[in-house]
Amino acid sequence: MSLAPHGGQLINRIATPEQKQEFLDKADYLPRVQLDERATSDLELIAIGGFSPLTGFMEQADYDRVVMEMRLANGLPWSIPVTLSVDESVAANLKEGGLVRLDDPTGRFVGVLELTQKYRYDKTREAVNVYRTDDEKHPGVKVVYKQGEIHLAGSVWLLQRDPHPLFPNYQIDPVQSRAMFKEKGWKTIVGFQTRNPIHRAHEYIQKCALETVDGLFLHPLVGVTKDDDISAEIRMRCYEIILEHYYPLDRVILAINPSAMRYAGPREAIFHALIRKNYGCTHFIVGRDHAGVGDYYGTYDAQHIFDEFEPGELGITPMKFEHAFYCTRTQTMATTKTSPSAPGERIHLSGTKVREMLRRGELPPPEFSRPEVAAELARAMQVPEEAKKYEIASLKFEI
Ligand code: ADX
Repeated sequence: MSLAPHGGQLINRIATPEQKQEFLDKADYLPRVQLDERATSDLELIAIGGFSPLTGFMEQADYDRVVMEMRLANGLPWSIPVTLSVDESVAANLKEGGLVRLDDPTGRFVGVLELTQKYRYDKTREAVNVYRTDDEKHPGVKVVYKQGEIHLAGSVWLLQRDPHPLFPNYQIDPVQSRAMFKEKGWKTIVGFQTRNPIHRAHEYIQKCALETVDGLFLHPLVGVTKDDDISAEIRMRCYEIILEHYYPLDRVILAINPSAMRYAGPREAIFHALIRKNYGCTHFIVGRDHAGVGDYYGTYDAQHIFDEFEPGELGITPMKFEHAFYCTRTQTMATTKTSPSAPGERIHLSGTKVREMLRRGELPPPEFSRPEVAAELARAMQVPEEAKKYEIASLKFEI
């Protein structure tokens, strides 16, 4: 028996074939709202139960309490608003109590909103409480400031569950991951969130965690990220490569997390943990500066925030790891908890550092990345669009 979903029941808001036909029949007559990339992935996550117990975009009572107290109106822990924002002009044409047709950014009909509420909200209050800053340069805050003034709330339906266009083989929804864990006989499963190419500190903390649980659920985020993050295609390829060479395949499942990154640091760590609880994980890895960006958050703030909840209240156990590095004295990956090294004997690694090196046309060293992964990153960065994105004039290495 795997862990209960958040709120006790796994939500399914994928329209049945009959409902879908009904929605298609009405489609031309319904008012339309075009979703951005983030709202499209939020719709998907709600529908497949990744955001259980949410059945739709948040009403004001939930939104207010989430922003101020990290709880839904019914008291259940929840840390990030899941909202649909539109301009006033769009909201003015929508009636509470009616259905709204939801189109994705390409204009494709993807879902339906049962509109129960339209409300104004305070963007600065959301920024300060959720993101801990009102700096408009923060990528999450920037999104809040740019979005519409009115929230549309209500339950949603996803018209149909399409295979992911890029990673159909890794699209494992909560109902499936739960079944897979059960079939494998795993009682304890640790989830891993990431938005960066895998490096050795990631591998180290994943494997330390796996030493004490039955299975590892590698769950890279493939929804929208900020422009200078490495693309999901490259990151997934790195995972395929490293799994093949360095992981016990019978103890690991690789699957995509379709949600969008918020960069909300501590608040997002709670959010990430609750999502993985819905996928059936019992444990969740929280390392250094989880979901952080720039220097908005303290290195371990995303770990401390778990202490703001009563033991057992979240229903998933964080596995907290210190900043891991390669220790030249012991010649292993380590943290200050396990290594007697002096600071000069520690090679600190991070996704940001990998990006900087690649931008300069350098390959990360083996203490940083497994060579097969470094080679893949280098290969990928030579793709003209990627190279342009990272302003690589000429790469110094050959593969
Ligand atoms: S995140 O934004 O998705 O958190 P990233 O992919 O870099 O970014 O990190 C994935 C997980 O690994 C997070 O829990 C993060 O805290 C952890 N992590 C990343 N680098 C290190 C490191 N050097 N030491 C310890 N934990 C780390």
